[in-house]
Amino acid sequence: GAPVEVDISKLEDGQMVRVEWRGKPVWVVRRGDAILKELGEHDAQLRDPNSDEPQQPTYAHNKFRSVKPEIFLAVGICTHLGCSPTYLPDSFSEQVSGVSSGFFCPCHGSKFDMAGRVFAGVPAPLNLVVPPHMFVSDHSIIIG
Ligand code: FES
Repeated sequence: GAPVEVDISKLEDGQMVRVEWRGKPVWVVRRGDAILKELGEHDAQLRDPNSDEPQQPTYAHNKFRSVKPEIFLAVGICTHLGCSPTYLPDSFSEQVSGVSSGFFCPCHGSKFDMAGRVFAGVPAPLNLVVPPHMFVSDHSIIIG
C-alpha cells in the first residue's frame, strides 16, 4: 500500500482524525499537556508500560509511543480479535478510575490508554500497533 499523508493543521487538543492506510483504520490524535502528564501516572495498571514488545517502530518503545509527544498515531484495531475500539475523550474514567481519556473495545472490554497501552486484566494481549510515520512539516505526517 502507498504511504498516506495527513494534514494535522486543524487538529485541536483531544481531537481525532481517522484515515485509512493499507486497508486499516489509523487514528491520529492530538494530546494536550494534561493527557501527556497522565501518561506517566498509571504505569502500574498497564501490561507493558514501556512497550517493550518488539514489532513496532523504535519511537514507540516508551510512554508516549510517538515521534512527537503531542501527536499520537495508532492502528485502530484491537489486538484481541480485531474489533475497533471506541475513543472516549471525556468519559474513560467510567472504565478506569483516575484515567480521563482512552480507548474502550466494546467486543470484550479491552481498555487502552492515550498511548494505546493496554491495561492489565483485559483480553487484549498487546498494546495497539503504532504505524510507521514521519513528519514532513509541523502540520503534515506521512504514514507508511
Ligand atoms: Fe477487543 Fe476482544 S476484540 S476485546
